[in-house]
Amino acid sequence: MKYDRIDSTLYISNRKKFTERMTANSLAVFNSNDIFPISADSTMPFQQHRDILYLSGVDQEESILVLFPNANNPAHREVLFLKETSDIIAVWEGEKLTKETAFLTSGIKTVYWLQQFPTIFKLLMAEAQGMYLNTNEHLRANTEVETREDRFIKQVKQDYPAHQVHKSAPIMHKIRSIKESVELELMQRACKITEAGVRRLLAFIKPGVWEYEIEAELAHEFLRNRSKGFAYTPIVASGKNACVLHYIENNQQCQDGDVILLDVGAEYANYSSDLTRCLPVNGRFTARQKAVYNAVLHVKNEAQKLLVPGTIMAEYHKQVGALMEEQLVGLGLISMEDIKTQNPDWPAYKKYFMHGTSHFLGLDTHDVGIWHEPISAGMVFTCEPGIYIPAEGLGIRLEDDLVVQSSGAPFNFMGDIPIEAEAIEDLMNA
Ligand code: GLY
Ligand code: MN
Ligand code: MN
Repeated sequence: MKYDRIDSTLYISNRKKFTERMTANSLAVFNSNDIFPISADSTMPFQQHRDILYLSGVDQEESILVLFPNANNPAHREVLFLKETSDIIAVWEGEKLTKETAFLTSGIKTVYWLQQFPTIFKLLMAEAQGMYLNTNEHLRANTEVETREDRFIKQVKQDYPAHQVHKSAPIMHKIRSIKESVELELMQRACKITEAGVRRLLAFIKPGVWEYEIEAELAHEFLRNRSKGFAYTPIVASGKNACVLHYIENNQQCQDGDVILLDVGAEYANYSSDLTRCLPVNGRFTARQKAVYNAVLHVKNEAQKLLVPGTIMAEYHKQVGALMEEQLVGLGLISMEDIKTQNPDWPAYKKYFMHGTSHFLGLDTHDVGIWHEPISAGMVFTCEPGIYIPAEGLGIRLEDDLVVQSSGAPFNFMGDIPIEAEAIEDLMNA
């Protein structure tokens, strides 16, 4: 791992949050992700499943965590199964977790090698009445690939048809959404790495530079700060490309007079940061660009004030819609007539602002959380309104990461990253 070891007390406390919400006499199983193949003998870099990571800190493939708080044998109340390391693996792949380092990482005392899983699991299941299975219930999850977890679930339901099945997802969504102070520090660190990347760009961006050169500058800055790199595929979109919401080609040359939209964030210790800034390629916004920019900034400043305990996200999104509507009328993009005759299911403002304003942020960029419950202190959200005008070759989005506090305004992890149009111009021309 590139990141410094995280104190195991975080994982001990995370497991406690999970187990105290379990039904009695049940066990829960969490699997690592697979290492995904490319072709021949090539593979994608490993990315750990965020749930086993959250509960154990184990950032290694082929690991299984079993939590069974009522197990008769106290040694079986939390158990890790790991791929057995060997001298050969040490030579070819390098260091893997030993039983001792697995304990230091996770605080879990009972560590078996993976080949012991069938025997021990059978023993535990004979004692358990129910099992918690970890299905992916993220509202936007859309994948055709069968994960290691999916295969396990299929097998275990076949092997143990008489056990009661419970869902881990609602518990995970609830507990992962409220961050511990250690997690907030890690997220702040990810945001600081992103800040270093953006500051590097302020003097680098000029007419003629290519979008991929900007991406390369960011990657360099992220990696030299102990990040694995981008938390999500970066969007480096100049001119009209900014109106393509998921533009990731990053292969165009930046033109004099265009604005470039950068939706880029570093990861640190698997925590995401998620930032969007828009910079004028030649260092100065035109009056029109600045008017649109300031409209988005106004909506963002007002919207983020609403990220306080008790807010219902569905209501929040409606309030932000009203803020945006006002700005779009001011910019001459929609009229009062458009609003009067609008379809309530797709209000007029959606023509220029067609995505949500905020999402949970954490170990996943679009992190898990319970959307219909009032928000509370310790939750981290992005705030990212935007206005996209393809006819003008202009797209502006501004995005910061904010933690809800028990009272007052949210704390902005990105608060030191310049956002006022004039501040950006001053820095680009310094
Ligand atoms: N970068 C992804 C998002 O802003 O949601
Ligand atoms: Mn975002
Ligand atoms: Mn983003």
